[in-house]
Amino acid sequence: MGIETLTIRRPDDWHLHLRDGDMLRAVLASSASQYGRAMVMPNLKPPVTTAGAALAYRERIREALPIDSGFTPMMTCYLCDATDPAEIRAGFNCGAFAAAKLYPAGATTHSEYGVTSVERIGGVLATMQEIGMPLLIHGESTDPVVDVFDREAAFLRSTLALILTRYPRLKVVLEHITTEEAADLVLRDESGRLAATITPQHLMFNRNAMFAGGIRPHYYCLPVLKRERHRRALRRAATSGSPAFFLGTDSAPHETGAKESACGCAGIFSAPVALQAYLTVFEEEQALSRFEAFASENGARFYGVPFNQGTLTFQRTPTRVTGDVELADGRRIRTFLGGETLPWTLA
Ligand code: DOR
Ligand code: ZN
Repeated sequence: MGIETLTIRRPDDWHLHLRDGDMLRAVLASSASQYGRAMVMPNLKPPVTTAGAALAYRERIREALPIDSGFTPMMTCYLCDATDPAEIRAGFNCGAFAAAKLYPAGATTHSEYGVTSVERIGGVLATMQEIGMPLLIHGESTDPVVDVFDREAAFLRSTLALILTRYPRLKVVLEHITTEEAADLVLRDESGRLAATITPQHLMFNRNAMFAGGIRPHYYCLPVLKRERHRRALRRAATSGSPAFFLGTDSAPHETGAKESACGCAGIFSAPVALQAYLTVFEEEQALSRFEAFASENGARFYGVPFNQGTLTFQRTPTRVTGDVELADGRRIRTFLGGETLPWTLA
């Protein structure tokens, strides 16, 4: 029998979609009650492309926070072909932006204003390298001839290789990696300027989960779940002790009707349960002693921010995951693993 309780330093979520308005108000508490900080994704409609928009969005998040939550939203800039390097510099220097997010145009939800070619943002990337501002990448090729399951690997060979060569000091986070190729690339990097986040769903499930007995839209996210070989490689990477891997849930709420549809949205709402899910994976991999670094230290070190004060304690008490979160108007958001039982509970 293993340990009965586990206490870790308060963690951070380095990849989070909080949305806006009623959706923001419905989902924010799940993250704010557990994490010290989150890197908040900018793919709103319209996207967050200026320092002014990031500051206004941060204010809306702060207003929606429970009192005394102690939660700090860190804001990101959505890169477009037309992004002005001066805006990036000013936004980073004044603390409006902590990082910038590269969505290849058309790669995922609300990415239609994204970047059509890295050539278009050369000045932006040079500026980011100069000022030490991290580039967060949704790493999928948008070439329509590339098979959907090969899009990440194709992106690594084409676009990412070019970015890493052309900007040798640019800090890069490959977000929500899903393949053995991505894990290996990050593991092999010796410069310390390349890191990756990994989601709970990509550690727990392979692509069969999307088709188990019928089509299961609540397992659909982008990059899409991959085959078992990749899931195993991600589990090895996350639990390897390498400081280049850290927690980023990619919790991405969509109301249930938008997912259970003829053309369902990509995104899995994992914020309420992600920590227990990761913890389950670390225990299965016999790596409980490495969980705290993954959840609470590696990301802070990469971003150059202090470790959080305070702790979280988990107890080995099996609990059933609550099914849905409800919006003010009664619409619902399905929680990842809703109805399943996990071995750990947040005390
Ligand atoms: O599954 C996803 N959902 N992947 C993304 O890249 C975006 C996200 C969202 O915003 O819904
Ligand atoms: Zn995301």
